[in-house]
Amino acid sequence: MTQVIAVVNPKGGVGKTTTAIHVSAGLAVAGSRVLLVDLDPQAHATRGLGLGSPAKRGGGTQPFEGLSPVLGDLEGARVLERIRPTRVEGLSVLTACGEGVGAEDELRGRTDRTRGLTEVLSPVASRFDFALVDTPPGLGLLPLMALVSADGVLSPVHCGGFALEGLADLLQAIRRVRQHENPRLSLLGLVLTLYQDEVAACREVAEEVRAYLPRKVCRTVVPRDPALVEAALRGLSILEHDVCSRGANAYIELTKEVLGYG
Ligand SMILES: Nc1ncnc2c1ncn2[C@@H]1O[C@H](COP(=O)(O)OP(=O)(O)OP(=O)(O)O)[C@@H](O)[C@H]1O
Ligand SMILES: [Mg+2]
Repeated sequence: MTQVIAVVNPKGGVGKTTTAIHVSAGLAVAGSRVLLVDLDPQAHATRGLGLGSPAKRGGGTQPFEGLSPVLGDLEGARVLERIRPTRVEGLSVLTACGEGVGAEDELRGRTDRTRGLTEVLSPVASRFDFALVDTPPGLGLLPLMALVSADGVLSPVHCGGFALEGLADLLQAIRRVRQHENPRLSLLGLVLTLYQDEVAACREVAEEVRAYLPRKVCRTVVPRDPALVEAALRGLSILEHDVCSRGANAYIELTKEVLGYG
């Protein structure tokens, strides 16, 4: 059975894409067949793995294959064609929303629209052990679809100001989806990200989050590490870019935690 993990936090810039990329890469390196579903119209996860558009990233990268959102095609017939391999063995990417075209617009008015991703994944799911879904910020249709299709949620939490902001909304959204559309959905864990031990405010925020949901905070804390920014800019997973970095070490440990949820 494929385990679908949605990476969601309504707050922007908290490490969702970074976490989705490097946990996906970690799982693939550990021998799993992994599909990273990029649900963000900005396609940061796609670009972060070196599959961005040449105009934006310079030469040597593959272009997006058309802009029509895969999610508009609820039969999912063309999904297989759109799954692209990455340099990391065992890791493929599905860019589910093209640039410029809003999947949310395409799907507006369809009564089954929150099941869009579930439908898209069903014909391909058996080919993968894990599908990680990177979502845009907010709790609009795209993150909602991810929750409806998922078994579990990983929620990166920035160890900066207002970390708890948005978490109550996320928990409420999870409860609502569980009640009405997807009873198997569970919160796997909150992942503390961008952590700086030398900054008192960071330590305080981490404690605040642990006090808020004591049993749901992952053991692994992801430090602020410039190597993760460099990796993203070069379109590499951190395991390829600098396997000895603190960021790589953290994501290897987080991957082990995720494997433990299975
Ligand atoms: N642990 C880290 N150390 C240093 N930089 C990081 C770390 N995690 C993420 N970043 C950087 O912070 C920025 C935001 O991270 P990321 O894109 O993963 O967040 P996001 O939650 O996906 O954002 P959005 O809500 O816009 O999709 C990026 O430039 C990323 O490279
Ligand atoms: Mg992102």
